[in-house]
Amino acid sequence: MSENNANPFAYTEIVKDHFLNPRNFIMGDEKEWQSDGEGIVGNPVCGDQMLVKIRVKNGKIEDIGWKTYGCASAIASTSALSELAKGQTLEDADKITAKEICDFLGGLPEHKFHCSVLGHQALHKAIQNYLEKTS
Ligand code: FES
Repeated sequence: MSENNANPFAYTEIVKDHFLNPRNFIMGDEKEWQSDGEGIVGNPVCGDQMLVKIRVKNGKIEDIGWKTYGCASAIASTSALSELAKGQTLEDADKITAKEICDFLGGLPEHKFHCSVLGHQALHKAIQNYLEKTS
């Protein structure tokens, strides 16, 4: 899973960049971030939580915001996910996998792979929430 097999604790430069400069992170009160759908999930492995909110226009994710109490891997993974999902149709965004997120980041340490699933599970819930509201 990691590009640096010699050190299973090593993060790639891309992971570090997304951890230190997370894209689409909701600053301030998340309740004030207006959205068309939102999803929140907890990670059963570690108990961390993730919130993802989306704004939808013409069937596409126009904007995405997120917040987490998760670790560096969860932050980097969800930052990457937000970049991958923005501008996509709801259907395509919902198909983004944890492996695609890991590949985007140049790999994650194997024992941190479970952190990468949080964001896309929360995104899935946000999309479902939007579809329920609009059906
Ligand atoms: S350790 Fe909880 S999300 Fe990474």
